[in-house]
Amino acid sequence: MAIRWVAGFVLVVFTGLILTSPPVRGQLTPDYYESCPYLESTVKSIVESAVDNETRLAASLLRLHFHDCFVDGCDGSVLLDDTDTFTGEKNALPNANSIRGFQVIDDIKSALEEIEGCQGVVSCADILTIAARDAVVKAGGPTWTVELGRYDSLTASKENAEAFLPSPFSDVPTLNTKFADVGLNETDLVTLSGGHTFGKAQCGGFSFRLYNFSGTGAPDPTINSTYLSILQESCPDGGDASVLNDLDQGTPNAFDNSYFSNLVINKGLLRSDQVLESTDGSSTQDLVSAFANDQSTFFSQFVISMLKMSAISPKNESQGEIRTNCHFVNSAPSPTSLLVATA
Ligand code: HEM
Repeated sequence: MAIRWVAGFVLVVFTGLILTSPPVRGQLTPDYYESCPYLESTVKSIVESAVDNETRLAASLLRLHFHDCFVDGCDGSVLLDDTDTFTGEKNALPNANSIRGFQVIDDIKSALEEIEGCQGVVSCADILTIAARDAVVKAGGPTWTVELGRYDSLTASKENAEAFLPSPFSDVPTLNTKFADVGLNETDLVTLSGGHTFGKAQCGGFSFRLYNFSGTGAPDPTINSTYLSILQESCPDGGDASVLNDLDQGTPNAFDNSYFSNLVINKGLLRSDQVLESTDGSSTQDLVSAFANDQSTFFSQFVISMLKMSAISPKNESQGEIRTNCHFVNSAPSPTSLLVATA
């Protein structure tokens, strides 16, 4: 494998497979918040102590950023509570009783509002972006320079969340379509699915694989038999759909490449994970093998794909605002204090 740096972006070449895609920069820049030099250190220390208190929050913060970006761009829309004028994303099917980490974002926003030069300046969308990067680093993953300058949305849409977020029941073509809808390609799909190297999923998202897969009366044949028994024990047929399972049974809290090693031995938890390896003839298989074989290849491409995802349709000043409270748009009749905002 040869790794070459070309014009500021990575070109990774191995066994004829090319992983590439320069980050889309647009209006975003690493030096956006010159007036707030303690921004990144503030976010880092709050993320680190939150994860020290509860390990899973690292995964939850990464997922929160992903769910923000896929729905009308990375604009903090996922953070908005429902109002009289719109039903937001929090109660959309892929999010309800599932996305988490809001209190960490509130804590960061509150802390920034106390720092001179940061007050009323930093968008909730940018806080999500930095927190996601810091969460990955805290769990042992790669680091990168985040690009900043997103404005926060003025609304949110349950309908769009349900239309744009991918489902765990999907096959590869459907997943590819969902990613293409937001300007991401198949390399990004496989790479960012590597986010499932930590965190948890509820039985309801995969138990259909365990007993009567696609009406066959039998389990999904692409589940390793030992793993199947473990999952059946955790998720009995007709049992509690909210029971949590590690997405990566091997190293559940570490950001590493074991998600991909799992797929190679049929230990992917969600159908949308395992299909990346088990779909015969799919080009996703080559990437899964490459990432399973070499963690640094995965990490290099993860950084590139995260920069792309984080740059989906950022809003500018005329399209958004800098929210005072991440739960509400500034014009909404909202609690006067962040402290009384719902978690
Ligand atoms: C490829 C399409 C994807 C599908 C269908 C999908 C689906 C899911 C589902 C069903 C869960 C479990 C939710 C629950 O049971 O409450 C989950 C968890 C998670 N997802 Fe994804 N996901 C996808 C892509 C991604 C991407 C791109 C990332 C980040 C880069 C990501 C990061 C995570 C993380 C970290 C968790 C665990 C969160 C926690 O423990 O709080 N996922 N995903």
